[in-house]
This record gives sequence, C-alpha cells and structure tokens, in this order.
Amino acid sequence: METISRIINDNNFVRVRGIGPRNLFLKLEAFNAAGSIKIKTALGMLDALEGSGRLAPDSVLIESSSGSLGVALSIICAERGYRFTCVVDANTSPSNIKQMKLLGADVVMITQRDQNGGYLGSRIAYIQQRLASDSRYVWLNQYANPENPLAHARTTARSILNAFDQVDYLVVGAGTTGTLMGCQQYFSQHSPHTRIIAVDSVGSVTFGYAPGPRHVPGLGTSRRPEIFNPQGLHRLEMVPEIDTIAMCRHLARSNGILAGGSTGTVLAAVYRMSEYFPAGATVVAISPDLGERYMDTIYDDDWVVDRFGRIPPALIPKEELVSPVDTSAAK
Ligand SMILES: Cc1ncc(COP(=O)(O)O)c(C=O)c1O
Repeated sequence: METISRIINDNNFVRVRGIGPRNLFLKLEAFNAAGSIKIKTALGMLDALEGSGRLAPDSVLIESSSGSLGVALSIICAERGYRFTCVVDANTSPSNIKQMKLLGADVVMITQRDQNGGYLGSRIAYIQQRLASDSRYVWLNQYANPENPLAHARTTARSILNAFDQVDYLVVGAGTTGTLMGCQQYFSQHSPHTRIIAVDSVGSVTFGYAPGPRHVPGLGTSRRPEIFNPQGLHRLEMVPEIDTIAMCRHLARSNGILAGGSTGTVLAAVYRMSEYFPAGATVVAISPDLGERYMDTIYDDDWVVDRFGRIPPALIPKEELVSPVDTSAAK
C-alpha cells in the first residue's frame, strides 16, 4: 500500500435492527481514505485522466463538489502534486471545506442559487467560465464522466455481490448517480434478479420532480446529471429531509451508528417501504459516510430548528409519514 488514497475498505457490512426488514445490511463506506465512498470516484476519474495524457505539468484540476468528492480529490492531488480548485456551495459542511484547504486545495464558495433553487447550475456556470478563460483548467466533471459509475461497478457493486450469496434488494442514494448507475450496470449483468431501489431527496430534480430547497449535502441535484439513466431501476423513493434528520438521530441511538445525511435518507426510505419487502428478503443499503462531519448541521438542534422549524421525533411514526410525491410513475 504505497499511498493513503489506495486505502479502500469494501468489505464492511453491518446488520441494522429496528428499521424494517429483518435482513437489512448497511455497507459502510466511511472506512475508506477520505472517510467516504467518493475516494473510489476520485481515483477512477483521476487515474483515467492521467492515462488519457490530457494532463500537462501546469494543469489545474477543477471540480464541483458538495464536499466529499472535494476532500477525496484534495487527498489524491496532494499525493500526486496537482493543483486543485474545488467549487463548493453554502450547503457544504465547514469541516469538509477546512479539510480541503488543509490538504492544499483552493476552495471557491458559490452563494448564488440557480433557477431551480439549488447551487449546482451556478457551480457549473462558474467552472465553465474558468475553463473558457484559462486553458490550464481541466474539469473532471463527476456528473458526466463515465469513469464515475465505472468506478462503482468495479468496486462497490462487485464487493456487495462477493459478500452475499443473494441480494434481493439493493438500496442506493442518488447524488451524481455514479454509485446508483455503477450498481445498476454491474447487477444487471451479474445478479439480474436483484431489485435496485433508488433514493432521492424531495426537492431534487434528477427523477423529474419539482425543484425545492434542500439543506443536506450528498443526495439530490438541481440539474439532472448526464450519466443518469432511469432504465433498469425498479423503484424510486423520494424522502423529505426532515425524515433524514429523524433517521440519523434514531440510527445513532438504536444501532450505535452515527451516520452521515445520505445514509439517514437511504434508511428513511427503507423504513417508509418496509411493508414492500417480503419476509426474509436480503436488503443491502449503502452508507456513503459517517456523521462526524455533520455535528454542526444534522446533529445540531439549532441548525435543524432554523431550517425545518422543529426537531422531529427520533423515529417518525409510520402513520405520520406524509407521502411527499407520487413516485409510482417515475419519469
Ligand atoms: C455523503 C454522500 N452521500 C452520497 C453521495 C451520492 O453519491 P453519488 O454521487 O455516487 O450519487 C455523495 C456524493 O457526493 C456524498 O457525498
């Protein structure tokens, strides 16, 4: 093992109790270098770029990231001696920004929302300006780069099938949709009976629903990613962010897992859907990161009250779950 970015722990699965299905397993990605699933995306994209010969000694890598990919790229760029500019927004956790800066990255904060009320369109417009005005910039573009899903097909998806004799349902959150698309591609070839369930946050436009404000980084977009293709996905669950907060807090107390926001969203979807799973089904959900980076947000009462107007009960009773959008005919 010669560099820290090569530390990938693809074999950490834990059983989760009390959320719904008896055989519910969470794949923990926090024990990778950079503390999240995104080191695999970063390595896949950067290795391919180096292989393509498009990098010159004075190249400056640039990427838009809600935080986790930015930290992962900052590590690899520090290891390999590349200059790196990360374009983040007001939802990026202060801890992620601090880590990127300590690792030597330039961080640009976008505060202007795009026409869908998110930041992604504004972040990308900023990158396009930089690319047009300075030829040293090279954009990795995780939203359009086929190396993003490929990295997850090679690693995340393969390791899940290696760990279980049978996976009946695989539940995956959608941000750039790299993890989701990579899993869909790999499972469609190697385990076609596995049903792939996509999870997104209410307010995200990826699946064709109306844009709205979102505060939890990781899942959701305000602009459909180019790599996204809904074919082969069996079901979609759209989760309001208040349920994310409730599930994160419940999971910590009930299972000892202090999770990141996207993990809370994915498990809130499993909880909402628990009647959907047949008894005895093996359900695997992916946990992209853990909660340390969210102490000042999801786990901070003032932050939650400021954004959601209340602290939700630790586990929202099933009968109080509102059905936010009709996902029966996901577009
Ligand atoms: C914490 C976290 N969870 C989930 C995701 C979504 O993963 P993907 O981009 O592969 O859809 C991201 C992406 O940045 C993330 O940072």
